[in-house]
Amino acid sequence: MDNRYAVILAAGQGTRMKSSLYKVLHPVCGKPMVQHVLNQVSKLDLSKTVTVVGHGAEKVKAQLGDATEYALQSEQLGTAHAVMQAASYLENEKGTTIVVCGDTPLITSETMSALLAHHQESQAKATILTANAEDPTGYGRIVRNAEGSVEKIVEHKDATETERKLTEINTGTYCFDNEELFKALSNVSNDNVQGEYYLPDVIEILQKEGKIVSAYQTASFDETLGVNDRVALSQAEKLMKLRMNEKHMRNGVTIIDPDNTYISLDAVIGRDTVIYPGTMILGETTVGEECIIGPNTEINNCRIGNETTIRQSVAYDSEIGHSVAIGPFAHIRPDSTISDEVKIGNFVEIKKSSMGKGSKASHLSYIGDAEVGADVNLGCGSITVNYDGKNKFLTKIEDGAFIGCNSNLIAPVTVGKGAYVAAGSTVTDDVPAKALSVARSRQVNKENYADRLNNKNS
Ligand code: UD1
Ligand code: CA
Repeated sequence: MDNRYAVILAAGQGTRMKSSLYKVLHPVCGKPMVQHVLNQVSKLDLSKTVTVVGHGAEKVKAQLGDATEYALQSEQLGTAHAVMQAASYLENEKGTTIVVCGDTPLITSETMSALLAHHQESQAKATILTANAEDPTGYGRIVRNAEGSVEKIVEHKDATETERKLTEINTGTYCFDNEELFKALSNVSNDNVQGEYYLPDVIEILQKEGKIVSAYQTASFDETLGVNDRVALSQAEKLMKLRMNEKHMRNGVTIIDPDNTYISLDAVIGRDTVIYPGTMILGETTVGEECIIGPNTEINNCRIGNETTIRQSVAYDSEIGHSVAIGPFAHIRPDSTISDEVKIGNFVEIKKSSMGKGSKASHLSYIGDAEVGADVNLGCGSITVNYDGKNKFLTKIEDGAFIGCNSNLIAPVTVGKGAYVAAGSTVTDDVPAKALSVARSRQVNKENYADRLNNKNS
């Protein structure tokens, strides 16, 4: 196999997006389009990858890091001009160069490999990845001669009425013999409707020189969707989402309504987990086996064990163990550790706290900056008072403690092992192990108070 290189075109502003965010940085399923493209390109066995940057160059570089080289196109004079900017890296290399656009986020390494194989077999100097489009509007059209071989690509804006009827489109991905590519690029002119140097013109140049020019048509038009505006962006989002959901379903996850389930590329989900509609599993989340997630649940960057249920709730940046029950309507905020068999019920918020095995906060609680041991019962409405307006303080509740309903634990404070806090207490001092703390005034009943009041008023 000869040396292989890639050029990713990512310098355009993306005028049609009408956005202050550069086009290739628009996310699809949570990841910028150009990152999807680079991830797929990186799976090919390449000697060098060069990304052409221009608009938002620094931001694109910050996104992609050192997984690619960069060439700067300071003025966007067209796709041929963009590839030319990679000359200092590639011009003198022998081998094959694959060119991909940063705005085709659904392209896969499998399709690019098939294109490279076809290119090699047909001994072509250039091979275009084409697709048949139901609606080819906006795409360059593949013009073939009477024998069926490729003659040229004509851009939609430059095409005649007859050419516009052609449905075979240029996907914007190509393979070239590297030396032929750079030679031909210097002969591309900008004599067209847009006044741009078009990369597709290289095809006609090589064809006229009598070089073999080939086309490889992929059956999957979806994969080649070019995102130029927000309508296409939403189509890409939908296709990517379904692709990912299908992957999880094939791995043994039940997704009740794939159209309304959003799972990030980096999420890992175990077998026999069931995901109900309206659920978003984002970031680098792992979910174990036989869990029930959703409906209407948002989980971001969490590690979740097996047989855990999270219903109608939100959880961020936290560790959640096995056989935990969360929700409905719970909020797990960052840096929380929820151990096995914990129960967190409705309207409970946990922030930067740990809950030991088997502990329960079943209703209406705020647990912030707390270390809660195992088998602790936090009664309805119990609250850690962690903030004095300036600083945050720690609450410790040791194993087996029982916190009565509607208690305030004013941090810093410790409730010892097996201790009880009476309902309605406001605890300001440590409670020793096994003690009962009653921190509320005694009840006073004033007999016949109502009668006395009525007599006074009459
Ligand atoms: C391009 C192709 C068209 C093809 C379509 C597939 C050209 C002239 N046309 O059209 O045949 O059907 O893609 O999606 O190539 N870019 C630069 N520098 C520039 C111009 C563009 O880096 O000077 C980058 C853009 O950031 C983008 C890519 O090249 O990622 C394609 O440019 P775009 O303007 O989107 O081309 P299309 O009109 O979609
Ligand atoms: Ca495009």
